[in-house]
Amino acid sequence: MSDANERRHHWDSYCRFLGETLGPSFRTRYDIWHEKYQTYAQYGVVFGGFSAERAELLQDALTDCSPEPVSPESVAAQFEGTPLTDAVVADVNRGTVFYRPSARAHWWMAEIADEIAEQVAAFIGSPWRILSTRAWQLSGQSGDLGANEWHVDGLPESIAKLMIFPHAVGTEKGTTEFQFADGQTLAIESAGPTWALFKSSELMHRGVRPSEGTTRYVAELTIIPSPRFDLSPVFAGSNARHPLEPWFRSATYRY
Ligand SMILES: [Fe+2]
Repeated sequence: MSDANERRHHWDSYCRFLGETLGPSFRTRYDIWHEKYQTYAQYGVVFGGFSAERAELLQDALTDCSPEPVSPESVAAQFEGTPLTDAVVADVNRGTVFYRPSARAHWWMAEIADEIAEQVAAFIGSPWRILSTRAWQLSGQSGDLGANEWHVDGLPESIAKLMIFPHAVGTEKGTTEFQFADGQTLAIESAGPTWALFKSSELMHRGVRPSEGTTRYVAELTIIPSPRFDLSPVFAGSNARHPLEPWFRSATYRY
């Protein structure tokens, strides 16, 4: 078996493990009427708000982070990267600043993850853990390729994305837009700090850059259902997708 096939096999067996471990008992525990679980299962995207104070502290921390542009090299050895062409590398880094999150930025990501942990669990139907984190800011000059064109992520089943916007979102301020199987689209609009959870490998989506003169900040948590919570953010590179090995404990690892 090739390395890639073997890894895919590991992810398949991990997903089976999740199915067996996170059965109806967890769903009952986290969403007694199954309302939230069914909403997320049906639409593949849900969103909500969080503390404005924590949002401000996260955004302030992000503005102080050093840049870490997307490149084929910006991925830790234990993680899979996205295959990139030179054209995509140039486009995704134009007008967008990818960060190497500082300890302070990770601190506030963790505080926000703690704040919304149970809400997100109710939608997923189980506790969850963070596989990796990234953060960046978009401007009106951001390009049209990479995450800003319609795409699905192609990650192993069960992995989801949790986007954290420390400010209001919308077509003027920048947002994420989704396209459902029937062709309908939804751009998240919200008057305050917003999180959005979505099935990034099933639902078509794209980043929407803000209008001229506005900056959109975002922290992205790549997450997976888990028998227990593990909400320590970990940066594995601006081009990291997910750990090669599903049993890998991200929380014990620092890039
Ligand atoms: Fe994506």
